[in-house]
Amino acid sequence: MKIIIISPNKALKEQIRQHLQEINAPREILLFDNGSDKLAQIAEQERPDILIMEGLDHGLDQLTFLEQFSLHYPATELIIFSENASSEFLMKAMRSGVSDVLHLPLVAEDLQLAVRRVESKLKQAGGRNKIGKVIAFIASKGGSGATFLACNLAYVLAAQENEKVALLDLNLQFGDAALFVSDQVPANTLADVAANISRLDATLLASSMVQVLPNFGLLAAPEDAEHAAEVKPAHIDALMKLAKNQYDYVVLDIGRTLNASSIKALDYADMIFLVLQESLPFIRDSKRLIVALQSLGYDKNKIYLMLNRHEKRGDISIEDIEAALDMKVFKSIPNSYIAVSASVNQGVPIMKIAKHDAVTHALQEIAQTLLKSTHAAKKSWLNSLLNRA
Ligand SMILES: Nc1ncnc2c1ncn2[C@@H]1O[C@H](COP(=O)(O)OP(=O)(O)OP(=O)(O)O)[C@@H](O)[C@H]1O
Ligand SMILES: [Mg+2]
Repeated sequence: MKIIIISPNKALKEQIRQHLQEINAPREILLFDNGSDKLAQIAEQERPDILIMEGLDHGLDQLTFLEQFSLHYPATELIIFSENASSEFLMKAMRSGVSDVLHLPLVAEDLQLAVRRVESKLKQAGGRNKIGKVIAFIASKGGSGATFLACNLAYVLAAQENEKVALLDLNLQFGDAALFVSDQVPANTLADVAANISRLDATLLASSMVQVLPNFGLLAAPEDAEHAAEVKPAHIDALMKLAKNQYDYVVLDIGRTLNASSIKALDYADMIFLVLQESLPFIRDSKRLIVALQSLGYDKNKIYLMLNRHEKRGDISIEDIEAALDMKVFKSIPNSYIAVSASVNQGVPIMKIAKHDAVTHALQEIAQTLLKSTHAAKKSWLNSLLNRA
């Protein structure tokens, strides 16, 4: 657990630290003087589990600020102190996402109890120590196979590689990902998560998902355009921050529209998988999309071409595509009409329904490549740390 204490009062800060150290559990405790003006900066850099703040004035403006804060940092729990705040303030503080309000002068037991309560809540939610890899699927054109590949790669990562995986259907208007891997009607969607964003935590996220496997949850897209309109970029931002902390892999189905929300999600993507097929209209639209992505500031080396429905003896070769797009094809997935149709029509992952199909093998290969690159990245990070030491 990482706990940050912010207060202009040095003596009080030390007292809080001491009381926290009396509770037996490993904790990292940091102290800061700065008030609310530096809060976001501290949260961004330190990513604490718990933030304890003293020295707020009790204006309702502060609550709006705290509400914004918990919206942006849903993985950080807030505990605040107040000297003689009104009951109206206390109610509103709780509603704005503050976990606990403690009274001054400081009572050690109250503080310890509040911290224990928050810690057990965080533990139940599965901790937040992951740095998930975010993979965004974007379709160059409708019908490219982006949703099919996103859902089935997510399934392989969970079922075969034992990774904890989330699939977020961010195709706000035409999202249909849940149908590809499950026969459950989603009880909740992204719109419900957006409506409850100030309460968003790992438990709420997990309970809003269709649980395809114990380690694979899928958050369905809003059911209609009206609900889709309620999802704002700030919601996506909070959702992405949380999902990255909770899952090894966060797979996104972006669909084919670039808008403020999908761009917000792409900002978090480690890899953008652009799905195309080997025909001229797909190649043309891929070219446009690559230009658009680059003009939005995404590096070309973040974009990976996924050539779907590949036929070895087709009119257009992989080399032709690479020449036209001035990019290497990352992976090709064979065309396999019967197995894919059976999977899609029954809503059963292809790995389950056609274990030995070439498409299943291609997806397994992609999963292996991803795991290898994640392990290599971790190793080089560790090496640089050790070298520095
Ligand atoms: N490798 C493949 N072999 C055969 N058929 C495939 C393959 N991949 C996808 N398909 C077929 O293409 C159809 C469209 O796929 P999908 O819905 O995933 O495309 P999409 O890019 O998400 O489209 P949209 O833009 O409508 O969201 C699927 O229903 C499936 O039947
Ligand atoms: Mg789709």
